[in-house]
Amino acid sequence: MIVLGIETSCDETGVALCSDLKVLSSYTKTQTIHQKYGGVVPEIASREHEKYLPGITRKVIKDANISIEDIDYIAVTNGPGLMGSLLSGISFAKGMSQGLNIPLIPVNHLEAHLNSVFIEHQNLKPPFINLLVSGGHTQLWIVKDLFDYELIGETLDDACGEAFDKGAKKLNLNYPGGPEIEKMASTGEKNKIAFPRPLKDDKTFNYSFSGLKTALINCVDKGLYNDNDIAASYQEAIVDSLIIKFDKALKKNKIETGIICGGVAANKRLREKLKKIGSNIIYPSMKYCTDNADMIAYLAELKVQNRRIDFDKNFTAYSRGMVV
Ligand code: KG4
Ligand code: ZN
Repeated sequence: MIVLGIETSCDETGVALCSDLKVLSSYTKTQTIHQKYGGVVPEIASREHEKYLPGITRKVIKDANISIEDIDYIAVTNGPGLMGSLLSGISFAKGMSQGLNIPLIPVNHLEAHLNSVFIEHQNLKPPFINLLVSGGHTQLWIVKDLFDYELIGETLDDACGEAFDKGAKKLNLNYPGGPEIEKMASTGEKNKIAFPRPLKDDKTFNYSFSGLKTALINCVDKGLYNDNDIAASYQEAIVDSLIIKFDKALKKNKIETGIICGGVAANKRLREKLKKIGSNIIYPSMKYCTDNADMIAYLAELKVQNRRIDFDKNFTAYSRGMVV
């Protein structure tokens, strides 16, 4: 069985081919055009997907050394994400599915993230706790079994990646802000400014980052500290906030393995501090942490194998939520 996966939920245009739960070939194009706007511009993102999908698809088919007629299924992300971006991918996928007369499988982007760890760790057995930390999401999930997930906490306002991006903007740094803040923080004093760790003592597994962002804005406006100390202290507050709830979720549920994925998982300070919590933390390779079509094709094939697919040709895009 060969599955072609398409991912266009935000600003990464991804296409991948998966067979026997192994990735045959894949390509992800990150849209750099948004950098000059300091964030993703939805209208531009949709157009870029439309522009690049045909070429990327041809490339992955060639790289896998197969012919287009060998493909058995087309899988595409249909939510959550930016509406226009999703629709660009879905229209392309529907065209391919009709042209080749093969089934089309809608895939939930979050469910694909939760399962992406299996691409490199096929023998990993649930349960595990997954901390999903990206520009659009900050969520804590319990993966109890295959296809059995429970969302136990999420951000009540901004995502943690957004906190990095908005903080970077205030510090006149480029987009995406996470790597920029990380670089600036490397020569700063992380305990210089006592930024809050929002919701740290509350009983839920929820997060909140908007108050922290406001604290950073006020701090920069006061002009009392240098930017490196602000960046280091701010990064430390975000990292601490993430770890406090992740650690609590692992211990309270007596689960030994934690997975961390999403763009923020690249953060070195986060990785360094996670070493100290005493759980087995798995980091998928960065190409599987950030948005990619490998996880879309992989989950679709896993579902076909397990007869968990609902072949509904009339599905459409949705911007929020997990439908599984
Ligand atoms: O998963 P991702 O590539 O894309 C989506 O949001 O879908 O995540 C991007 C986010 C951005 O907010 C970016 O600033 C953040 O991940 N990020 C980082 C680092 N690298 C990327 N945040 C902190 N430290 C990093 N090294
Ligand atoms: Zn994502």
